[in-house]
Amino acid sequence: MALDFCLGVTLLLSMWTTAKCDIPKEAIQMECHDRFFVIAVDLAFTGSNPHFEAVDESGVYAITKQSAAQCGYSIGVLPMLGHVELRASYFSCHTENKDDEVFTFNFNLVVAIEGKIATYALNKTCSPSLPWSPREVTCEVNYMEVSVKSEVTCPSETKKEDWNAALKSAYTSATSDWQVMLHGDERVLPMNLSEAHKRGYAFHLTDSRLVLRAPYGQPESFSAEVKGVPVEAVHATLFSRQSWVVLMVDLVAACSMHEGSYDNSGYMMWDTPEVLHPLMTSESETRVKIGVDGELVEKPVAEERGYIVEKYNGTLQISIPYNAEGAIRKSLVSGDLFEFYVFALYLEQMLFGEDQMDTRLRAHRTLATPLLPRPLYSENRTVPEQRMFTVYLGDVPEDVGLVAVHLNGQVFTVPFMNVSSHTITKVIHPNNTHGYTLKVSMADPIVRQQFSKEDGAMQHTLEINYTLTVLPEYEPFYHLASVMAFTDVSPPVFDAVCTESGISFKLDRRPFDYLWEITIGSDLLTSELADQHGYIMSTDSNSLLLEVPLFSHGFKSTEATLKGFFGTFEITMRDPETSEVQSSSVKTCPFSTTELIMCSTDGRLTVVADLSLAMPNGGNPTRTNLRDKYCGPKETDGTRALFSFPLNSCGSTVKLGKEYVTYENEIFFSKKLRALKNPADPINNIDRVTVQCTYPLSGLFRLFSVYKFESDLAGVGRILHSLQSTEGLRSPTMEPTSVTQSPVYTTRRTRRPVSMRPGYQPPAKYIKVSSFLKNLPKKKGTLQSKINPRMY
Ligand SMILES: *[C@@H]1O[C@H](CO)[C@@H](O)[C@H](O)[C@H]1NC(C)=O
Ligand SMILES: *[C@@H]1O[C@H](CO)[C@@H](O)[C@H](O)[C@H]1NC(C)=O
Ligand SMILES: *[C@@H]1O[C@H](CO)[C@@H](O)[C@H](O)[C@H]1NC(C)=O
Ligand SMILES: *[C@@H]1O[C@H](CO)[C@@H](O)[C@H](O)[C@H]1NC(C)=O
Ligand SMILES: *[C@@H]1O[C@H](CO)[C@@H](O)[C@H](O)[C@H]1NC(C)=O
Ligand SMILES: *[C@@H]1O[C@H](CO)[C@@H](O)[C@H](O)[C@H]1NC(C)=O
Ligand SMILES: *[C@@H]1O[C@H](CO)[C@@H](O)[C@H](O)[C@H]1NC(C)=O
Repeated sequence: MALDFCLGVTLLLSMWTTAKCDIPKEAIQMECHDRFFVIAVDLAFTGSNPHFEAVDESGVYAITKQSAAQCGYSIGVLPMLGHVELRASYFSCHTENKDDEVFTFNFNLVVAIEGKIATYALNKTCSPSLPWSPREVTCEVNYMEVSVKSEVTCPSETKKEDWNAALKSAYTSATSDWQVMLHGDERVLPMNLSEAHKRGYAFHLTDSRLVLRAPYGQPESFSAEVKGVPVEAVHATLFSRQSWVVLMVDLVAACSMHEGSYDNSGYMMWDTPEVLHPLMTSESETRVKIGVDGELVEKPVAEERGYIVEKYNGTLQISIPYNAEGAIRKSLVSGDLFEFYVFALYLEQMLFGEDQMDTRLRAHRTLATPLLPRPLYSENRTVPEQRMFTVYLGDVPEDVGLVAVHLNGQVFTVPFMNVSSHTITKVIHPNNTHGYTLKVSMADPIVRQQFSKEDGAMQHTLEINYTLTVLPEYEPFYHLASVMAFTDVSPPVFDAVCTESGISFKLDRRPFDYLWEITIGSDLLTSELADQHGYIMSTDSNSLLLEVPLFSHGFKSTEATLKGFFGTFEITMRDPETSEVQSSSVKTCPFSTTELIMCSTDGRLTVVADLSLAMPNGGNPTRTNLRDKYCGPKETDGTRALFSFPLNSCGSTVKLGKEYVTYENEIFFSKKLRALKNPADPINNIDRVTVQCTYPLSGLFRLFSVYKFESDLAGVGRILHSLQSTEGLRSPTMEPTSVTQSPVYTTRRTRRPVSMRPGYQPPAKYIKVSSFLKNLPKKKGTLQSKINPRMY
């Protein structure tokens, strides 16, 4: 406990000691200029309200606004530069002066650090290298100062009346103390120096010079327009009667009070008359030097910086580019973003008088531009192919930062969290501006998407509201931008692959796929439809999978050969409003089977049958035929034959039921040959191959109108082998749905069921009339005999 306490005290003491003795080197800068000290202290160190105290042998003097103007101090807080600056004239009240050559300024810097007042004792000694001119006039921001060589006191051009009045006063004044007469007052009465001091004037007698200092706006000052330029002047005559000699010194300071103007071509202008006061004239042409921040520059440097000095009708006109080197720029929010520039002009006018009575006039003037609009710009750098909005926000000044971005109303603070679909990057330029590149994927959920019917394209919109702040005040303002892009939208496209048992379709979903209806034929693809037709459908937000088994509803088989056949399935994309087909995904896959039967909608039966048991040994499938012996196979191999014929031809029989019609035919091995080859073959050992096509009557059009066979649905085909079990021989009492859903097996001797179901032909509605007609009469009897008369 005791230890803790000690530690605390030690810490406190050590802190106090550091505070008292050491000021961080980088926090303070002290410089010697031609005619004044410059003390600059970092505002980060001092806080916003530092104080200075001047120190001399007689005491410590707080530098207040009033005392500063009287005593030769100027204090400026420059938040834009981050420091507070104190300029002290070499003739300032409490500066130690050795022979007008070595000046020492002792002062205290008083700051409040964490609520505690800390005082730093500091000093700076300077020896200006520039010799003093006989007369030196300084037009500071808060005072005028004039110093003259005290040895030379012969004024040449004093106005007669003033001079006489002064003389008279000097004679009548009984004292040897210095008196002063301030011209400009109506009553020119002499006063002693302490009286003048009370009135705000300061007089110093240095080693070799007499100094007068006066704040601006004194009652005794002159204000007048000279050559159209406002000028303020102070004119004092100092005198002293030393027995029979009267010493008189005329002190005059005159300064241009022009406030500066901004011409809209980007120049700050400042005017001063060449001759500011009748007592400040020049025998030869005045010489002008210009600079910034209390430092004059050589003419070529000034020219390079774009400073222009023109003599015009008795005035000097100074023009400085608003953003010239040395200008301080500041952003400001007033609804929109504005900026202004502040320029600390420093000017020297040399006036050359008789007998080398030269006058050096130095003026400090702070020029500020009005508020200039500082528009930021945003540029649409979107490349639509990248499916990414790219927006550049440019010309952002140094003292402005981006803090947040509203994207379609949703706020994101900067820097963005790591989200790949929108990013923002800062781009820094050498001209003290920076910019931000915003990238937002068009697929980002924050991007508004709207399908535009007229353009037939997807419209992506992004409204951007940038929130920027001006530093260091953090004053916010907003910049708006809006970008829009169209992307072509194409109907969805399925990827399809052939599988052993069918065709598998896959769709990667896009957000705008709702613009199309996905249909199979004319039916909307729904899970109910999939259930009904035996499709296997699985769907999530990203993809849709559809597996279409062979011969399911919508499956089309074509080009049957002995090698196999092609199965085709088509998914169509339709406009939901017009039902117009806009695109389709079609996949055709090869399939191979041993046996196959197809009953087409246009009335053709195509069959590939295994005849290995229907033929005697050594039999040849080429020798097979249908009931009509002239109807032979189209194609054969060692054991199989392919027949393709119109349902009503080749000796087919027709069985008409209440709801179904069945066409039947048979494949024979040529009897003649059979008998010849092996007469002993019992006929019962020969496999009889029957082929059937069954169509629901409801779907048939004009069954008997002779010219056409047209069915809504393909028929259900069967191949019946007599040598096998009779399972497959059941008469077709199928429900249309069960027919299309459950496989119909053709049975073979191996008893291996082949997954095979009746297939479709494309709806080629009109068959060749001639062949149909040719066959019709032959079959008429059969047909009629088997038709239920009720059907007529
Ligand atoms: C001036 O300051 C220095 C330290 O910066 C110090 O050593 C010196 O004593 C000071 N002089 C006076 C006269 O205070
Ligand atoms: C200066 O003049 C004022 C008023 O005229 C007078 O009161 C004062 O005593 C004088 N001071 C000195 C030091 O003579
Ligand atoms: C020059 O200045 C005088 C007075 O200051 C004025 O009358 C005159 O018009 C000026 N001349 C020009 C050309 O501006
Ligand atoms: C974002 O990710 C990068 C690398 O993936 C990382 O370097 C960075 O720090 C992350 N930024 C934030 C804000 O998480
Ligand atoms: C700054 O430089 C950038 C890049 O060179 C340019 O786009 C921008 O216009 C410049 N801005 C100003 C204010 O000069
Ligand atoms: C931009 O965002 C700011 C801050 O949310 C809001 O005050 C301002 O109204 C917005 N501007 C527009 C045009 O939406
Ligand atoms: C932006 O750029 C894209 C791509 O160049 C263009 O399609 C769009 O019309 C542009 N304008 C706006 C306001 O988004």
